[in-house]
Amino acid sequence: MPVIAFANPKGGSGKTTAALLLATELAAKGAAVTVIDADPEQWIVRWAGLPGKPDNLDVVSIREEDALVDAIEAAASASQFVIVDLEGTANMMVTDSIGMADLVVIPLQGSAMDAVGGGKVLKLIRNQERTTKRTINYAMLLTRTSAAVTSRALRDVVEQLRSSKVPLFATPIVERAAYRDLFSYGGTVGGLDPASVSNVDKALQNAQEFAGEVLTRLNITKPMRKVA
Ligand SMILES: Nc1ncnc2c1ncn2[C@@H]1O[C@H](COP(=O)(O)OP(=O)(O)OP(=O)(O)O)[C@@H](O)[C@H]1O
Ligand SMILES: [Mg+2]
Repeated sequence: MPVIAFANPKGGSGKTTAALLLATELAAKGAAVTVIDADPEQWIVRWAGLPGKPDNLDVVSIREEDALVDAIEAAASASQFVIVDLEGTANMMVTDSIGMADLVVIPLQGSAMDAVGGGKVLKLIRNQERTTKRTINYAMLLTRTSAAVTSRALRDVVEQLRSSKVPLFATPIVERAAYRDLFSYGGTVGGLDPASVSNVDKALQNAQEFAGEVLTRLNITKPMRKVA
């Protein structure tokens, strides 16, 4: 089933956070989800060791480059969604994942540095399209945007993407304490205690809208089949 890869060689662009939000929201809708954690920091593996992981969400740790393709193939035949979290560098795992992905999500903060990283992924996508002779579905995703203000650097990045006709998620991932808390306390955004963390409702709505847009970009319009 669909493979969704999160790639940007710029470190800290928000790949792991966005990948976990997508995984937990799809699992909350009842889908069987596998996350392949190929980020050396292994944050999603660590998250899975905390309380609150949905039973229908599995996390597979990949540390060796040559194990990735097999892991993606195995997960794709067993799960409704496969989410691949990649290292903040351009390595063979990134190339392989792009080659196998049904959707490549390129997270970037509204900064010139992240945009350059995003451009490197675009180049890899173009090369993979040529070598595999297939069109690769991809979109940039703005991350850590401010709920209150739009910076000049962010406006510049958006303008640059629009003028070069690069697909961009309509839903940015807003900077939220709730998203950081997942990695400290585990579980899903919907399971966080609104008394302990601010704006859980807004964080949940943002994560749900992002997951909804991923489904639209994958052309999945039918309601999610619940796993037994
Ligand atoms: N939407 C967000 N709200 C709050 N904090 C965020 C958000 N997105 C990312 N962060 C924080 O920014 C930092 C980098 O994010 P993250 O680890 O998701 O990026 P990454 O692209 O996976 O990094 P790497 O390239 O090192 O794997 C982390 O401290 C994370 O908690
Ligand atoms: Mg990461």
